[in-house]
Amino acid sequence: MNDRAFIAAQDFFLSAKTFWSTTMYRALRDSHSEEGCETVADVANALEESTLYQVFAWFERHLQRMKYAGRYGLVPFHKERRLDLLSRLASEDSECANNSLTLPAYYTGVDIHQHPGGVWSDDLGGFVYERGARTTTPLAGAAEKDVHERFTDLVLGKGEPKKILDMGCGFGKSTQPFVRRLPDSSVDAVDLSMPCLRLASHMARESQATNVRFRQMDACNTEFEADSFDLVTSTMVLHELPLKTIEDLLDEAFRVLAPGGRMVHLDFYCLPDAFRRFIHYGHARRNNEPYMQPLAESDLSGLVCSKGFVDVEVVPFQESERVDLDANDAWRFPWTIISAAKPKSPVI
Ligand SMILES: C[S@@+](CC[C@H](N)C(=O)[O-])C[C@H]1O[C@@H](n2cnc3c(N)ncnc32)[C@H](O)[C@@H]1O
Repeated sequence: MNDRAFIAAQDFFLSAKTFWSTTMYRALRDSHSEEGCETVADVANALEESTLYQVFAWFERHLQRMKYAGRYGLVPFHKERRLDLLSRLASEDSECANNSLTLPAYYTGVDIHQHPGGVWSDDLGGFVYERGARTTTPLAGAAEKDVHERFTDLVLGKGEPKKILDMGCGFGKSTQPFVRRLPDSSVDAVDLSMPCLRLASHMARESQATNVRFRQMDACNTEFEADSFDLVTSTMVLHELPLKTIEDLLDEAFRVLAPGGRMVHLDFYCLPDAFRRFIHYGHARRNNEPYMQPLAESDLSGLVCSKGFVDVEVVPFQESERVDLDANDAWRFPWTIISAAKPKSPVI
């Protein structure tokens, strides 16, 4: 497949997805009467059999499938360029790998995002994920700050941490803004996926960053010393974890944070009504994200408080300047900030 055919096809998938997330979403919303529909089950009863909903659901499932695995998909495109791509990562191998780590079953058991083999099983996984992630917020304007920059703005608005840990950093998209904007701070970033970590290290080397280290570790059980970070972050990680694993991650964040340190996560949680909850749960099924619904149904602030954190806040996050949080005029993820602090002195 030549580059031109691939780019044209991916542009088409993105345009079709934009049509789906605006015109089709609004038609579905307008076809739905909220009267008597207070729960997700009520909305399901009202909508699931409708042709419009079924077409909407088909588009969502199959556009994502075409994007990753179809004839012009991300996976076949990168496979055809395997040797060239992997030669760029040749020197990144030994530094961050942890050969004694066993990947957890929740992680290897599902092709998350409909990415065949996930981000961990093929050496090309980081490249495929990087390319796919360029359209995470399709409604944002090209000239706008992206979601990770906006998240970093929000976090750094409350102070400049010296030691930062990014949990579940992927190929480093969430880590880079901190690395770039805090050259005198040190940033550690961990993930389970070696293909992503190799790409993250490569990109950091290319940008000549010296204040970051990427390592293969389970965010729930890192090798860092207790009380050693001022800030622990994650972006788009919690919804990929079963609830028990989220608890383990929160425990680990609490352990490695210094007293008075802060934890800030960006994830998908605040759903203002039953219609949007129904759409979100459908998205979880259609995108192979089995832990998304249990997270959305959990008492997240209660969970964070139960781990000993204080100043707990769980609030909607505006991922793009163009989004009006109250409008419900397009499909979007329920972006949410989950932030909390470790008490300055132990609670007795
Ligand atoms: C959706 S990606 C987000 C990546 C990055 N934070 C970003 O915003 O671009 C979720 C990441 O979490 C990682 N992950 C899942 N479970 C993990 C765990 N227990 N420890 C560390 N990383 C984990 C996955 O490998 C994946 O790279």
